[in-house]
Amino acid sequence: MREVLTNPTAGYYMKQDVFGQKGDFITSPEISQMFGELVAVWLINEWTKCGKPKPFQIVELGPGRGTLMSDILRVFSRFKISESDLSVSLVEISPYLSQEQEKRLCRTTNKNEKKLPKDAHYYKESITVYGSPIRWYNHVSDLPRSFSLFVAHEFFDALPVHKLIKSDQGWREVLIGFNRENSTLHYLLSRERTPACLYCRENETRKELEVSPQSLVIIQSMATRIHQDGGIGLVMDYGHEGDKTDTFRGFRNHKLHDPLVDPGTADLTADVDFAALKWAATHPRADEDWQANLTYGTVEQKDFLTRMGIDVRLEQLLATSQSEETARNLKSAHQMLTNPSEMGSKFKFLALYPAVMEIILQRYPPPGFS
Ligand SMILES: C[S@@+](CC[C@H](N)C(=O)[O-])C[C@H]1O[C@@H](n2cnc3c(N)ncnc32)[C@H](O)[C@@H]1O
Repeated sequence: MREVLTNPTAGYYMKQDVFGQKGDFITSPEISQMFGELVAVWLINEWTKCGKPKPFQIVELGPGRGTLMSDILRVFSRFKISESDLSVSLVEISPYLSQEQEKRLCRTTNKNEKKLPKDAHYYKESITVYGSPIRWYNHVSDLPRSFSLFVAHEFFDALPVHKLIKSDQGWREVLIGFNRENSTLHYLLSRERTPACLYCRENETRKELEVSPQSLVIIQSMATRIHQDGGIGLVMDYGHEGDKTDTFRGFRNHKLHDPLVDPGTADLTADVDFAALKWAATHPRADEDWQANLTYGTVEQKDFLTRMGIDVRLEQLLATSQSEETARNLKSAHQMLTNPSEMGSKFKFLALYPAVMEIILQRYPPPGFS
């Protein structure tokens, strides 16, 4: 999964635009500006609750075309949050998509990349259309230390999973084999336990499951930063509460695609195990010393967006829409985002806070979550 999606030369995300009608899938921020605007209002509300710490950074993991960040920055500028208080940090592995993000978010695009300082942890830098510094990073652990508002939309579902099955001999991993005679790939079961089998909980009752060690490492890094430097996290994705067994799949041209056929031509994805993410975000690694962070959710997308006022936002946009077609598109986008049979129930929201905010949150719980 890792090779197919992010191999530096042939990886699915590394060389092309995969989003929208002409791509393989469409995401909520790409459907309507309403999505990103409500996420931005949520972030501003929670940042205000923390006492508006400055300077601060907005961090997005896996920003795709940069649409969500573009909507977030527009709302931050409307709320008159000074560009000098704010910096933008994007964690993006794809050089191709980082260029798309730069085109959408920056004043000018930097064709002759400026030489970076030798000790720079980022691989690219520029200035946003609103005048804030923006930098691109490969890993969460490279991010600068400051109060951070983290967002991750459809990021964790793109991280590799290991598939495990309980056999009569104990846990075994499903591996991918290569048939040299006809150059095809097939699934096979490991003969012995593999390191990924260590990720099974002792009291696990499922006979089949997927684990994503990379997701756990990333959410733990986020949790450590939130504890040490202050911050809040919002994870938005399709997923489950640790009860699903077999969700690994491919998508090509908006249709399901066998992951073992023509690897690199289709998106590969697995539902996010939110129970595992919550566990990792609230349990420090053995070598770290922090009090458990707080998590809220998951809640379904339809509930989050409705509580954040998507119906009111739709009415406002309809009142100023210039044509029947725009009005029709807005209503259809609202429907896609909130209808339980479309994206309304499948997508879930999880929030992360530092433990020191417990008393404040008891008085002022996170909006959108209840
Ligand atoms: C499914 S797309 C989601 C894009 C965007 N957030 C949206 O919702 O439209 C996944 C994004 O994560 C990036 N990505 C995938 N694996 C990554 C990794 N290991 N580190 C950083 N970025 C990664 C991809 O290049 C892409 O930008």
